[in-house]
Amino acid sequence: MAGIPADLLFEGARLATMGGAGLGVVENGVLAVRAERIVYAGPRDGAPRFDAAERVDCNGRWITPGLVDCHTHLVFAGDRSEEFARRLAGESYAEIARSGGGIASTVRATRAADEAALLAAALPRLDALLAEGVTTVEVKSGYGLDEETERRQLRVARALAGQRAVTVRATYLGAHAVPADNTRAGYLDLVCDRMIPALAAEGLADAVDVFQEGIAFTGAECARVFTAARAAGLPVKSHAEQLSDTGGAALAARFGALSADHLEYCSNAGAAAMAQAGTVAVILPGAFLMLNEARKPPIAAFRAEGVPMAVATDLNPGSSPIASLRVSATLACVLFGMTVEEVWRGMTLHAARALGLQAEAGSLEAGKRADLALWSVDSLAQVVAQIGPSPLWARYHGGVRA
Ligand code: NIG
Ligand code: FE
Repeated sequence: MAGIPADLLFEGARLATMGGAGLGVVENGVLAVRAERIVYAGPRDGAPRFDAAERVDCNGRWITPGLVDCHTHLVFAGDRSEEFARRLAGESYAEIARSGGGIASTVRATRAADEAALLAAALPRLDALLAEGVTTVEVKSGYGLDEETERRQLRVARALAGQRAVTVRATYLGAHAVPADNTRAGYLDLVCDRMIPALAAEGLADAVDVFQEGIAFTGAECARVFTAARAAGLPVKSHAEQLSDTGGAALAARFGALSADHLEYCSNAGAAAMAQAGTVAVILPGAFLMLNEARKPPIAAFRAEGVPMAVATDLNPGSSPIASLRVSATLACVLFGMTVEEVWRGMTLHAARALGLQAEAGSLEAGKRADLALWSVDSLAQVVAQIGPSPLWARYHGGVRA
């Protein structure tokens, strides 16, 4: 009897499917791919017989879902290393922002850069993520703060998917800061009344994000942005409770946000609201580290409430210049006490959910895209227990070796 046709068959693998409550480990597993999708991922014993065009002997290596970096700002121009030195000398992130540095500094550089320059600057950052097994990346705008530059950033984000084998989700973060050349009210009108409907109609944004913070936007202002986003059919996300508790997590949950991110100052009530709404907590230890923050996100409350936790890089030129999701996971373990299992689910299953991509990515399940990371390690702890050379052996995007 003929077997089931497949394009690609991985044999002799150890699988971490992320199915069930844990890592979904399958020793001696096989994984079959057809037409860019997983058609089987499970134990060799009891697997159907496949007629595969190509077979890969994994020799006991691990296969995990391709990693998902669900929070980055990797399209930008300029450099803010000088601010690193200023923070070492005692200035805070908020003080630097108020003095015209911070986000405003990157806005000036990004406005002055054309599309080709932004793309050229972004590619090496993206390549660093891909070299460690990332197959899906989210990219935010928010360094233009005017119509033209925000669009340019989003176009470059989309263009990245044409340059590399990666799935890109583009998020409009117009409400990142008030630009120096506009009023608060005038800028919010632009974001809510013009940009959000236009970007939704043009298909340039997959989601809308805000920065709810003392140095950025209030809860009322963010609620207005969320209302505009929902009216335009776009899901929302929030930079919430990074530097202080302004109720951002609960507000995001009220609007059914895909995720609330940072969350160092999130209250128990915020965590409970997120659990109710199914909003993912995106943990960003890179920003915590680089800002030398003292307050840790309430991991225990997220666990107790059953809030799914993702881990991401927050790759940006200021608060988190870290182009490694693997190191971000290591930091989440060491600094916040997350477990190896939690950070693995946080870089795959829950990160996909934070982008609304849970039907497509984040686990090894029949029907999902064949986005895979293959690792030359004995245990999955090895991937996050060291800051050093990447143990990635191969990366597949949509069933194609990348
Ligand atoms: O996620 N929190 C606000 N925005 C970014 C940082 C932006 C910047 O410093 O350039 C963040 O940390
Ligand atoms: Fe961010």
